[in-house]
Amino acid sequence: MSQQPIDTNCMTLTRWILAEQKRYAPNSSGDFTQLLSSLQTAVKAVSAAVRKAGISNLFGIAGNTNVQGEEVKKLDVLANELFINMCRSSYATCLLVSEENDNEIEVETERQGKYIVTFDPLDGSSNIDCLVSIGSIFAIFKKPSDDEPLSPGDALQSGRQIVAAGYALYGSATMMVISAGHGVNGFMLDPSIGEFVLTDPDMKVKPRGKIYSINEGYENKWDEAVREYVKSKKQGKPYGSRYIGSMVADVHRTLKYGGIFMYPATTDAPNGKLRILYECMPMAFIMEQAGGMASNGSIPVLDIVPKGLHERSPIFLGSVEDVQDVLNMIKKHAADK
Ligand code: AHM
Ligand code: MG
Repeated sequence: MSQQPIDTNCMTLTRWILAEQKRYAPNSSGDFTQLLSSLQTAVKAVSAAVRKAGISNLFGIAGNTNVQGEEVKKLDVLANELFINMCRSSYATCLLVSEENDNEIEVETERQGKYIVTFDPLDGSSNIDCLVSIGSIFAIFKKPSDDEPLSPGDALQSGRQIVAAGYALYGSATMMVISAGHGVNGFMLDPSIGEFVLTDPDMKVKPRGKIYSINEGYENKWDEAVREYVKSKKQGKPYGSRYIGSMVADVHRTLKYGGIFMYPATTDAPNGKLRILYECMPMAFIMEQAGGMASNGSIPVLDIVPKGLHERSPIFLGSVEDVQDVLNMIKKHAADK
């Protein structure tokens, strides 16, 4: 039987993180490297929990007890605790914003570093129990002033201040996609060595795709512009329609195959559903770094400065020409009004 040769010099995520630091910040403290390594550990642990969730009775909503009467931490709670603990123990963070916590978490003074991390530890909650892909999303910002103590609103920064962002997709394999502002790289988890290995170097999104992705059930609640745009995608040579309902999976497909992902405003949710700091901004950062676009319908998502930790925004993201088409349609409708 022929055996796959072992790559004795493969580019792992850990190695890539170290190389990034040497290349772009040779005199840095190493805190950023430490933070990315800690986030990587959180993702590995979440991935392991996702893979055995069914057998370990981790599915369902938080707060259930198992047959022994012990409290079982459900996946969402577990993922949140892992992200918080790994960030805290990296000694590189001062403030954490999680989808799961109403308020920001200030790291104890003796463990504080200069980074602010925003994250959705387990996104795609409606897909957890039926084994459809889910993910984690994160963005890293810097504390606005190195010498000043933290002040309220420090986490409410423009997406242009992002230092690095990425996501983990727990799909048919576990993948991490990361950008530290010098392009986008994708790493697949090799379970045999427990390491993320570079499989998708310098990812680029096509200028135009053939797929649109939106929850069409809400069609009657969209603006006229979105309705007309989606209708136009079914005419002539129609686009394919794909919608998983897990942002990470829908965005990852858009990055790999091109096209557009949309979560627009609806009459029930005038700001859409997705949260700016830990869903829209990290994905917008990745898309722009891959040569694509992300808009809220009027300005780039990365130009938004949120006023609240959990503020939402409509989002249109993906291939430049596809996003431009929907923006032109929105402009046309605004002009007609
Ligand atoms: P969640 O944070 O509760 O999981 O919600 C976010 C998810 C995204 O992953 C996905 O894009 C969206 O909700 C789907 O929403 P809908 O079911 O309204 O289409
Ligand atoms: Mg979410």
